[in-house]
Amino acid sequence: MKKAEILKLLRESGDYLSGQELCSRFGVSRTAVWKIINQLKDEGYEIEAVQNKGYRLQSSPDLLEEGEIASRLGTGRMGNNLICLPSTGSTNVDAKKAAEEGAAEGTLVVTDCQEAGRGRRGRAWSSPAGCNIYFTLLLRPPCRPEQACMLTLVMALAVAKAVRELGLDAGIKWPNDIVLSGKKVCGILTEMSAETDYIHYVVIGTGINVNQEEFPEEIGKTATSLKREKGEGVARATLLASIIGHFERAYEVFSASWDLRSLLPAYQELLLNKDRPVRVLDPGGEFQGTARGINESGELLVEREDGTLEAVYAGEVSVRGIYGYV
Ligand code: BTN
Repeated sequence: MKKAEILKLLRESGDYLSGQELCSRFGVSRTAVWKIINQLKDEGYEIEAVQNKGYRLQSSPDLLEEGEIASRLGTGRMGNNLICLPSTGSTNVDAKKAAEEGAAEGTLVVTDCQEAGRGRRGRAWSSPAGCNIYFTLLLRPPCRPEQACMLTLVMALAVAKAVRELGLDAGIKWPNDIVLSGKKVCGILTEMSAETDYIHYVVIGTGINVNQEEFPEEIGKTATSLKREKGEGVARATLLASIIGHFERAYEVFSASWDLRSLLPAYQELLLNKDRPVRVLDPGGEFQGTARGINESGELLVEREDGTLEAVYAGEVSVRGIYGYV
């Protein structure tokens, strides 16, 4: 995509690039370059054009749009096939459809707004336009279905790392909520199409409250956004590219063993439940204990009051903090 390539070059140069240089780099005419520059300006990019010097990028709008994302992605396979939609029902549904039609591993569906955003346990995910990130990554891991369940923790780790790089003290509420100041900023919904021992595909859907300022009353007590915590807005495409980069690296590590052994120290460090009292809502019986960390399979280790250690599997139970949300 020429637009993304020109944008990338302008951004990386940080200086003037002559029209001639852009023409020869991309093998297009001066008129074609001029048209792309105008298109970018129409989208809200501030590009200075000076005679005998060329073009210089001054600022970019906060858009979740193909050129803006593609020009910032430094990944290999992840995000290589980018599907950007101004609005949609749910990016998880779109990614599953793309998967059924044969889309490759790494396909990334991104949108600015969801009309039917889906959360875990059949809940809805509030997805207003113009402020947040909603994306789904498609994977085709050659592992067993129970191993793929850990991918949701791998994504949580990637998001937490990217958010921490913004200077925010993000932690993880097991298995995959990203939390700031005791409130949720990100949720992850992983879905899979598999047979008993063979995975067709996995989609990891992630919603991040980035620049949202107001929240509906029903979620206001437990939800926050990066902007609310940081006191200033965050560029969404930059953050998304950073998350996909962190995920690609973590996925490579994870896929060497198809368990969390090598990612365990990083995850434990960010795990907010550690050494906190938790109530485990197990269908087989509710119990209380103290969370002690996770194991290599991503299960939460809960110490019961009698001192025994129980490994709790995310797919079966829900864990609540006894004092507040975490
Ligand atoms: C949760 O309940 O915590 C999980 C929320 C997951 C929301 C994301 S937004 C992008 C993707 N598309 C969806 O419909 N849901 C996920």
